[in-house]
Amino acid sequence: MDDLETLAEAIRTADTAAVLTGAGISAPSGIPTFRGDDGVWDHFDEGQFTYGRFRSDPEGFWADRLELQEAMFGGEYEPNAGHEALAALERDGYLDAVCTQNTDGLHRDAAVAARDGETDAPNVDGEGSVLELHGNARRVRCTDCGRRREGEPIFARAADGELPPTCDCGGVYKPDVVLFGEQLPGAVIQRAQSLARESDVFLAIGSSLVVEPAASLPRRAASSGATVGVINLESTPCDAAVDVVRREDVTEVLPRLRELVES
Ligand code: NAD
Ligand code: APR
Repeated sequence: MDDLETLAEAIRTADTAAVLTGAGISAPSGIPTFRGDDGVWDHFDEGQFTYGRFRSDPEGFWADRLELQEAMFGGEYEPNAGHEALAALERDGYLDAVCTQNTDGLHRDAAVAARDGETDAPNVDGEGSVLELHGNARRVRCTDCGRRREGEPIFARAADGELPPTCDCGGVYKPDVVLFGEQLPGAVIQRAQSLARESDVFLAIGSSLVVEPAASLPRRAASSGATVGVINLESTPCDAAVDVVRREDVTEVLPRLRELVES
């Protein structure tokens, strides 16, 4: 049995199966990764996007965030064959959840498309099949009243000079993403950690696996006895601890994996 078949067989026979994805799965959709050649952190200073800076200098934070947002999400982008394969596996009952570090919303788009347009409410409570560990960059949230809103009109107001943009209640809006120095949404990371512990098979896909606590999910799954796979174009710090490593493009390997699982 080749190792992709090993993963397919493990998924087919699993009671619980989950994946963790990172920026690599959205790279073929045209969204830059954070690290590596020409990554976002080559062009921007990570230290400017902390929660501490947002609190002490919301105007400067928002001015920089607009540039980051444009660099990451300024183009047209849509789910690719990798997102689609995972969404189909989830819809067809083979995957319990897709945990993602990405804030681009593409797994949610793929999940909705796989269900012929059925909508999916903002998933911030750890329910549902797409767990956005670092939030969603298409939304903003008021830091006073907690109200979540569609981001685009608020980003447009900020681009027109309203820095920082504020809510009707007078509170400052924050992009609805987890900043450095900020806690992950508790219910979401707790569900992801339970899934990793309970999974019979767990895949880490397109993530450098260096940012905690997400980076520990594959190890947590491995130490609970899961069959664990890493799919990445480059090596990761987790490779030595897992059962299968595939150094391949997500858009090639994930549709093949789906085919093997569902054949
Ligand atoms: P870090 O990644 O160095 O680690 C923070 C520490 O706190 C880790 O040891 C982690 O295990 C622990 N921790 C944090 N929240 C936890 C939780 N809810 N439950 C259990 N343990 C928790 O810290 P950081 O540099 O402050 O980054 C915090 C997070 O914010 C990172 O995961 C990072 O990826 C994320 N982030 C997201 C974006 C984005 O735009 N999506 C940008 C920057 C940072
Ligand atoms: N197929 C498979 N893997 C790919 C592909 C591809 N087509 N393209 C890139 N990769 C891999 C790269 O080799 C790299 O290891 O995807 C990985 C992307 O890593 P990062 O840019 O570090 O992204 P990620 O792991 O998601 O970062 C985690 O760090 O800055 C924070 O909050 C931010 O959520 C982000 C977190």
